[in-house]
Amino acid sequence: MKKLFSLLMIVALVAVFVPVVSAAPPAQGQEYIVTAGDWLSKIADKYLGNPQAWPAIMSATNTKNLEDSSFAKITNADLIEPGWKLWVPSKEEAEAFLATYDPSKPELLFGKGAAGQLVVASWWTAGGEAEGLTGLFEIYASKYPDVEIVNATVAGGAGFVFRPVLKTRLIAGDPPDTFQLHAGLEVEGYDPETYLEPLDDIYASEGLEEAFPADLLTLLKYKDHYWGVPVNIHRSNILWYDKSIFAEAGLTPPETWDDFFAVCEALKAKGVVPFVMGTSGGWEAPHVFEDVLAGTCGAETYKGLWSGAVPWTDPCVAQALETFKKMLTYVNTDHPALSWDGAGHYLIDNKGAMMIMGDWTNGWFQAEGYTDYGWAPPPGTKGIFVALSDSFALPKKAPNRDNAIAWVKVCGSKEGQEAFNPKKGSICARTDCDPALFNEYLQSAMADWAVDAIVPSVVHGAAAIESWVTDYKDAITLFVTSGDVAGTQTALQQACVDAGACQ
Ligand code: GAL
Repeated sequence: MKKLFSLLMIVALVAVFVPVVSAAPPAQGQEYIVTAGDWLSKIADKYLGNPQAWPAIMSATNTKNLEDSSFAKITNADLIEPGWKLWVPSKEEAEAFLATYDPSKPELLFGKGAAGQLVVASWWTAGGEAEGLTGLFEIYASKYPDVEIVNATVAGGAGFVFRPVLKTRLIAGDPPDTFQLHAGLEVEGYDPETYLEPLDDIYASEGLEEAFPADLLTLLKYKDHYWGVPVNIHRSNILWYDKSIFAEAGLTPPETWDDFFAVCEALKAKGVVPFVMGTSGGWEAPHVFEDVLAGTCGAETYKGLWSGAVPWTDPCVAQALETFKKMLTYVNTDHPALSWDGAGHYLIDNKGAMMIMGDWTNGWFQAEGYTDYGWAPPPGTKGIFVALSDSFALPKKAPNRDNAIAWVKVCGSKEGQEAFNPKKGSICARTDCDPALFNEYLQSAMADWAVDAIVPSVVHGAAAIESWVTDYKDAITLFVTSGDVAGTQTALQQACVDAGACQ
C-alpha cells in the first residue's frame, strides 16, 4: 500500500513538474518548417497561444527573408507551402508587434530593405491586373534591388472598396508611398492640395509632356498641376462575345440596339444566357449604363451631360434607360452575386454570350488562358472611345518618398509601360510603345484611340467629381431593381444639380 502510494506521488509530481513537450518558443524565437495542412493561425495558436498572432510570424519571417533567403517570403497569409522555413518570434516579441499592428497597413507585415520599402497601394488583384503590376514591380526591382516592395492591395474592381480605405490613411497622415489614382476628376475626392504632392517637376525631368497625348495631359491636370503619372489607357466600352456561340448560332456582333435585342432573342432560344453581368461590386451596372448612354446620346451630348452643357432631362437619357431596362431582361439572374470577372466565366464556360466591360477583361481572359472571344464596340459606340487611365500619385507624407519618386518615374517610362500594359490589357499612355508587344485586341484599341472621339468614363474617375459619381452609381444601382425610368432620370438630373454642374 505504502509502495503504491509512493508510486502515485511520483507520477503526480512528474505530471506537475515535467511539462508535456512544450510548444512555446524559446525567448529569442525559433525556426519552423511548414508541413502539409499548416496555416499561419494554426502555427500561431500552437507556438504563441493565440491564433490571431499570425501577423507577428508573417512579419518576423519576412524580416528574416531580407537577410537570409532560405526563409520564406510570405506575400499572402493564406498561402504558405510545406517545406517553407518560417521564423516564429518569442511570445514577448509577438506581443510587442501586435500592440502596434494595424491591419490596414500591410507594410507592417514586411521587412525593410537596405533602402527601405516602397508601399504601392492599388486594387489590382484580378488576373491580368496582378500580372501587369508584377511586370512593373520587376522593372522597379531590377533598378532598385535594395528596396522592399510591398504590394498593398485592397480587392474590389474599380476601386470602390479601395478609395475609402486610402482616404482614411491620407487623412490620418499615414499614407502608403504611392497609390492608384484615375486620371481626371477623381483626384478632387482626395483634396490634393492638402494631401498630395504635385508632380510637375517629375513631368519636366522625365519629359512626360512630350510622352503623353495632349488630351490625356488635359485630363491629368487639376487646379493647374499634375497629381498622377499615368501607366495606361483603358477603354470602358467593349462588348465581348463568345465566338463559338456566335458562330454556331450564325450570328454577328450587333451594331444597333435593334440588332442587339434580335441577337438576344436568338441566343435565348438556344438556351444560352444572352447578356452577362456581375454586379456584386455596385459599379458594374453603372459601368454598362455609361456605355449605353454614350451609344444612345452620341459623343458630344454624352460629354455635355458631364460638363453641364446638356441637362439630364434630355430625351436621350430616358431612351438609354429604356434600352438598359430591356437589356436587363436578358441578363443572368445570379448577377448580384458575381463580380465582373466572376461573370466572365459565363463566356469561358460557353454558357453566356455577351458582356459589356472595360478592356481589363482582355488582360483577364489572357490570364485565364481563354482565347475564344471576340470584341466590338457596344451598339451606337462605333467611333466613340469611352476612356479612362490609371495613374500613380505621391502622398505628401509618403514614408519612403525617394522610393516613391523612383516608382512614378518607372510608371511613366517606356520600359515600365511596355512591361505593364500587354499583361494588364491596356494600351500605353505613352505614344512610343512598340505595338508588336501587344495582342490583336490591343492593337485594335491603339488604332481606335488614334481616330475615335474620346469621351471620359464616369465610373472610372475621369468625368466627374467623387460625390457625383456616387450619386450616379447609386441611381443606376437602384434602377436595376426598380426599373423606374422617370424616377431615375429625375435622380440623375438632381445628381448633376447637387454636383454644381446643372441648374
Ligand atoms: C478600373 C481600373 C482598371 C481595372 C478595373 C477593374 O477602375 O482603372 O485598371 O483594374 O477598374 O478593377
